[in-house]
This record gives sequence, C-alpha cells and structure tokens, in this order.
Amino acid sequence: MLFPRIRVGEAFIAALLLVAFDQALARPHLVAGQATKQRVPFRVPSDAELRDSVYRASALRGRAILLATRDSLPRNVGNSLRCASCHIDGGLRRDAMPWVGSYVRFPQYRPRSGKVDLIEDRINDCFRRSMNGRALDATGRDMRDIVTYLAFLSSGIPVGAEMEGQGFPRLEAMKGDAGRGIAVFRSTCVRCHGANGEGTQLAPALWGRRSYNVGAGMARINTAASFIHALMPIDRAQILTPQQAFDVATYVNTRPRPDFPAKVRDWPRGGKPADADYHVLPTSPQEKSR
Ligand code: HEC
Ligand code: HEC
Repeated sequence: MLFPRIRVGEAFIAALLLVAFDQALARPHLVAGQATKQRVPFRVPSDAELRDSVYRASALRGRAILLATRDSLPRNVGNSLRCASCHIDGGLRRDAMPWVGSYVRFPQYRPRSGKVDLIEDRINDCFRRSMNGRALDATGRDMRDIVTYLAFLSSGIPVGAEMEGQGFPRLEAMKGDAGRGIAVFRSTCVRCHGANGEGTQLAPALWGRRSYNVGAGMARINTAASFIHALMPIDRAQILTPQQAFDVATYVNTRPRPDFPAKVRDWPRGGKPADADYHVLPTSPQEKSR
C-alpha cells in the first residue's frame, strides 16, 4: 500500500492542506514586488520559426547541449544529470521550471550572488551547482549556442515580462521528517531512482557523488519538496501530500552529496533563506551598503 501510515485524522488534515494548496495555485505565481509587471501567456515557439540558417544551427546545437549535457560537455559536468533532469520536458513544460521566458527576465538582481546576474551567470550557476561541474567560458561557442536557444524560447515575449507557468508551484514551508521520508522513498521513488538514490537507466541520481552538490537550489528542502510534490513520480505526479513531499525531500537532502566550497560566499548582502542549510561568511557593512 502506498501510504501505510496515514490515519483518518491525518488524511483529513492532508485533504485540507491539498485544498489550501489548490487555492494557492489558483493565484498567479508571482515573485514579491513584481506584481505590476506585464503577464504574458505561456507559448512554446515552433522550430519553423527558426528561419535564418546560421541562427537555427546555433539554437539547435544549444538545445542538444541542454538535452545531452554530459555527452556534449564532459569536462563541465561532474554528475549523472543533464540540464533537462530538472527542467522537465527539455524546459518546455509550464510549471516545471521552463526555459520559455527565462531569457527576457535577465539581467536580474539575485540575492544569492548579491549582484545583477546575466543569463550566462545563471546558466553557469546550474553548471557549477546543479551539475556539480565547471562553468563554461561565458563568451565561448557552447555558451553562445545555449543562450541563442534560450533567446529563441523567449521569442515574442517582451523584456521583463512575467510569463504564466514560469518556475514551479511552491509549497508553504513545513517541517519534514527523514524517518517518514524513507518509507515514501521506498514506496514511490526507488523503482526509477534506485534503492540507494544512485540512479538507474530510468532516472538520475538523487544523492551521492553523481548528484547535485550542496550549493544547488535543489539541495534546499523547500525547493526539493515543491519540485517533488509538483512533478514526481514523473509518470504519476501529484500523488504525494505536501507533508510526504517534505518528508521525502528531507530524507533525500540529508543523504551525502558533493560539497560546494564556494558556498560560503553566497548571500553576500544577507537574506539567506531558512532552508539554505550551510554557513556563509558574515555580511560586511560595505557589502550591505554597496
Ligand atoms: C538539480 C536540478 C537542476 C539541474 C540539473 C539544472 N537546473 Fe537550472 N535551475 C534549477 C533550479 C531549482 C532553478 C531555480 C528555479 C526557480 O527558482 O524557479 C534553476 C534555474 C535555472 C535558470 C533560470 C530560469 C529562470 O527562468 O529564472 C536557468 C536559465 C537554468 N536553470 C539553466 C540550467 C542549465 C543550462 C542547466 C544545465 C547546465 C541546468 N539549469 C540544470 C535546477 C536545476
Ligand atoms: C517513473 C520514474 C520516476 C519515479 C517513480 C520518480 N522519478 Fe524522479 N525523475 C524521473 C526522471 C526520468 C527524472 C529526470 C527527467 C529527465 O531527465 O527528463 C527525474 C528527476 C528527478 C529529480 C531531479 C533530478 C535529480 O536526479 O536530482 C528529483 C529531485 C527527483 N526526480 C525526485 C524524485 C523523488 C523524490 C521521487 C519519489 C517521490 C521520484 N523522483 C520518483 C523519474 C522518476
């Protein structure tokens, strides 16, 4: 049975939480402070819109890198993931961290880096953390091809616009329990991700040296729980309650994974979120006022 431990009372609370979550979903998913920005519908451009042959070749090569990252760039990837391991359906699905609409939301101030990041910086963040690898040369051919593809995916979207379906639905924070998470993991994740989270032919690693490192967004419990709740198991998403998603995310993210020593320089102006489970250097007064 899938949820052997749920009793009637708990099931009722879970149902209430689900209703609350559904209502949260009905609200537009906006980043605080950006509510006045223009909202545009989600639209995936068709390849037929790639008319210029040189541009087309560059964009399609960029896409190939995102879909087969390790084979394309073995020197820059340090785990068993590909970019599309988390950006589901090759970054073309709404509410599943799509790349559609990303390009036009950069340059962007990001509290984690404490500066205005270009899209190249954001891509390299995922190379260094999510892929536990090495940054690409920001001006090299590989980066240009990836950026060309992402720009294509934002065709027709005005700069700075908020797009429907961007990011993924976020759960309200709650406390997860790794012990209960083991049971969820065994009943719902093992068949694809392996008994020790090591990955199989069907799905990539969830922890260990072939997984994302401690500096990755996915290493944060709220991010992982929300992602898992919305999108996993990939063939039967949204069967977990929010509590079960937090439990299994807590289990997964308390397993060993590669370190990311540069993490101590994250959030240099403060504002580290509660679920970033590592020590950072104290914010100096100059950093704060710069
Ligand atoms: C382990 C999961 C994971 C992998 C693998 C991954 N990413 Fe990400 N990526 C994330 C998360 C989490 C975010 C933040 C999403 C959010 O906050 O809504 C993100 C954000 C992004 C963004 C910004 C999107 C936006 O619209 O703001 C880009 C661009 C991006 N990733 C590119 C890449 C590329 C390129 C790769 C491969 C080199 C990659 N990602 C691999 C998890 C991942
Ligand atoms: C039916 C197979 C299947 C099941 C079951 C499944 N997943 Fe996944 N999962 C996938 C696939 C496939 C991907 C990568 C998608 C891609 O590459 O297109 C993935 C990606 C992920 C990722 C991001 C990439 C990574 O490996 O870090 C996480 C986190 C994740 N799954 C967690 C879970 C959890 C937790 C469960 C159990 C609640 C679960 N999955 C159940 C197939 C599955």
